[in-house]
Amino acid sequence: MMPAITARAHTNIALVKYWGKADTDLIIPQTSSLSLTLDQFYTDTQVQFDPALTADQVTVNQTVLSPDASRKVRHVLDLVRHQAGLTTFARVSSQNHVPMAAGLASSASAFAALAGAASRAAGLNLSRTDLSRLARRGSGSATRSIFGGFVEWQAGHDDASSKAVPFMEQVDWPIAMVALVLDPHQKKISSRQGMQSSVTTSPYYAAWRDVVATDLATIKPAIQAQDFQQVGEILEANAMRMHALTLSANPPYSYFNGDSLVAMQTVRELREAGSACYYTMDAGPNVKVFCQEADLPVITHRFAQQFRDDRVLVAHPGPGIQWLEN
Ligand code: DP6
Repeated sequence: MMPAITARAHTNIALVKYWGKADTDLIIPQTSSLSLTLDQFYTDTQVQFDPALTADQVTVNQTVLSPDASRKVRHVLDLVRHQAGLTTFARVSSQNHVPMAAGLASSASAFAALAGAASRAAGLNLSRTDLSRLARRGSGSATRSIFGGFVEWQAGHDDASSKAVPFMEQVDWPIAMVALVLDPHQKKISSRQGMQSSVTTSPYYAAWRDVVATDLATIKPAIQAQDFQQVGEILEANAMRMHALTLSANPPYSYFNGDSLVAMQTVRELREAGSACYYTMDAGPNVKVFCQEADLPVITHRFAQQFRDDRVLVAHPGPGIQWLEN
């Protein structure tokens, strides 16, 4: 019997976003991206290859997935089997740890944990760089969740060169990310569909590539200098420029809802009133607010009044992949 291995990976929020693939099979992105791994939201995944199984069996939060719903997971298992020279099917059991059904449980932590658990369960001992490449094959943003702190996903040009590189694993900087849960439901347009539509139909896509190159070049020294204002200004503008690719696609679409706009306006008001903070958004209506530890009480109080206190979740920089004792 092969061992059951459990890995834990945390989700990450991109400060300079990934929004578009150059290769949809290998998940090679159009641009590099840079994120912050968070401590509060994570996935634990256990994998065991078992000769008694006649098919892969995938359970997420105690629910068995249909073959269709488990397609991406089985794709990663196939890659692991190929590398390890195995033909055995696997039992995969995954638990998302998010304070509530928040719509924040991202594929980033899920596929990073899967890569970590499946590879070791198959007897492979991959470097973290190679784990990031494996996680990438499940979901692009998972590439970055192998490492903690600030992480760059270097776009590269092929399977070997498209990988995560830690930019600052130990974050000795009192910053926080406040996640506002504005709509816990599943997004209607997946990031996979949305970004592909932006690449193929937005006339602004070429400009986006230039935006990302500039933002990466400026955000890195700003992070190193702990220049909160500059990092905040870059991440906020970058997020809005990503969302401009959704509005400019054909057909146009948007991830904003009314509350997203209200929350963004509140961030601007807080800023004018002296509590420095900046917003970012991904492929859904939830808004994430980048702020400094000292301003957390004022900021969380304001949003708790505006929405509900159970909709305001505070996260800090988090660690890279870990393996747990079974
Ligand atoms: C807006 O990683 O979910 O969160 O590679 O198709 O699985 P696939 O997409 P995914 O896209 C994430 C998009 C984003 C920005 C980011 O995380 O960089």
